Amino acid sequence: MNHTAAVYTISDSCAAGKRQDTSGPRVRVMLEEAGCRVIHAAVVPDDQPAIEAALIEAADVLGADLVVTTGGTGLSPRDVTPEATAAVVDREIPAIPQAMLWASLAITPRAMLSRAKAGTRGRSLILNLPGSEKAARENLAAVLDTLDHALAMLRGGGHD
Ligand code: MTE
Repeated sequence: MNHTAAVYTISDSCAAGKRQDTSGPRVRVMLEEAGCRVIHAAVVPDDQPAIEAALIEAADVLGADLVVTTGGTGLSPRDVTPEATAAVVDREIPAIPQAMLWASLAITPRAMLSRAKAGTRGRSLILNLPGSEKAARENLAAVLDTLDHALAMLRGGGHD
């Protein structure tokens, strides 16, 4: 995958320095192993305006082809990553989270607790992953191969 990516870890505790972020670095390594160039990585608290601003910056200012978040997709009162994502995308891609869910349900029924979304903003694809390192890895692995074609289509490429 010859694409650029930005990775955001969405976590109050990581942003406050109370917990070490292992999910963001793990996602970064997986993207780099797939051939992506990670141009930005940051930790953002579970705050909807802050998440929206980060996603907009990644897409509109940095021009990242792929913007991946990890965390904040669940049911705790502070989990607002899907709401922030829905607010900034032009078009949702519901089947990407569905594919992650199908793959993840074979691993744990708790996969049904993630409300992750995917969508496009301009020429960027935004993808939510759950927050634990294990969940982020398993969910990204389920869709990583297909993202290459998705990003090519988003850039105006046709089918092979
Ligand atoms: N998906 C996979 N593949 N593996 C997991 O361990 N954990 C689930 C779910 N998705 C999990 C998973 C759990 S326990 C939760 S609460 C949700 O992701 C949401 O996680 P988040 O709030 O950290 O984003």
